[in-house]
Amino acid sequence: MKFVPKVQMSPNGPSFSRLVQGYWRMNEWGMSSQELLTFIKQHIELGITTVDHAHVYGIPPCEKRFGEALKLNRGIRDSIEIVSKCGIQPVRDNSSTRKVNHYNTSKKYIIESAELSLQRLGIDFLDVLLIHRPDFLMSVDEVADAFRALYDSGKVKHFGVSNFTPSQFSLLQTRLDFELVTNQVEINPLNMSCLEDGTLDQLQALRVKPMAWSCLAGSRILLENTEQAIRIRSVLSIIADEIQAASIAQVLYAWVLRLPTNPVALLGSGKIERITSGVESLNLQLTHEQWYRIWVAAKGHNVP
Ligand SMILES: NC(=O)c1ccc[n+]([C@@H]2O[C@H](COP(=O)([O-])OP(=O)(O)OC[C@H]3O[C@@H](n4cnc5c(N)ncnc54)[C@H](OP(=O)(O)O)[C@@H]3O)[C@@H](O)[C@H]2O)c1
Repeated sequence: MKFVPKVQMSPNGPSFSRLVQGYWRMNEWGMSSQELLTFIKQHIELGITTVDHAHVYGIPPCEKRFGEALKLNRGIRDSIEIVSKCGIQPVRDNSSTRKVNHYNTSKKYIIESAELSLQRLGIDFLDVLLIHRPDFLMSVDEVADAFRALYDSGKVKHFGVSNFTPSQFSLLQTRLDFELVTNQVEINPLNMSCLEDGTLDQLQALRVKPMAWSCLAGSRILLENTEQAIRIRSVLSIIADEIQAASIAQVLYAWVLRLPTNPVALLGSGKIERITSGVESLNLQLTHEQWYRIWVAAKGHNVP
């Protein structure tokens, strides 16, 4: 079994495990606090020490249920890096007066949201706080003020963004005297937009690693019966045989990890055997041609 290595996310940023455990779907796993604690310990054993949360994940909040598991073993906090996200304001936070889910990156909401994440998780600081989605009403001066206040109070060590375009990333960076440490973006053969819109080019230029979410497209590539998904699966199966991968999921992780920005890949499964199998993908190396065969299958045409 390969032990998942640590990588530095940006020149002055934190170290994350190359594979990160995502907790968005945690409520679907139906685990008790004790079972969740066991799951956390198991992925730490594999070397997956970084965990991904968001203020908006789950009803009841995933952060709260994760915090209850951490309470059962206080020492665990010191062995993990906790990422959370803010900036999506759901109707349910105040359903009597709020009509639609919306984005809110005001200073007040960023600080309130980060503080609520800390309270739910039962911890003193977040390793990284991300702005979850670009907000059309985002004033970067306000975001910078919020980040500075959270940093000065010791509540957040590093900051980043998620689903930002290169220009939104640059815009926010102009107001900060520290670097954004990641842009968490979707990367899989059904969604290759960040390969084409400059997002990954910008991160490579800055030596900032992306966090790749939904590497399996939330299992759509494994299950969907569209022509495109069937075409991709068929190529993935052939390549799995060529590189002796145990599953097409492993080939998908290898396809994402092959990118020259050196992404860290988020795993979304709640099944430890699938996480363990994901770790094996670190042993796999795709050639340029194998990587492009998956690209071609996704596009449905050859490279120009
Ligand atoms: N920043 C953002 O906007 C954003 C958006 C979405 C997600 N995320 C983050 O990214 C993480 C991963 O996203 P995701 O859950 O969509 O990831 P994913 O790995 O693409 O999908 C995971 C889903 O695939 C299922 N699955 C089926 N077969 C599998 C196999 N062989 N191996 C692994 N999983 C298999 C899992 O079910 P089982 O649990 O039954 O295995 C789970 O429901 C999230 O937890 C969240 O932290 C961020």
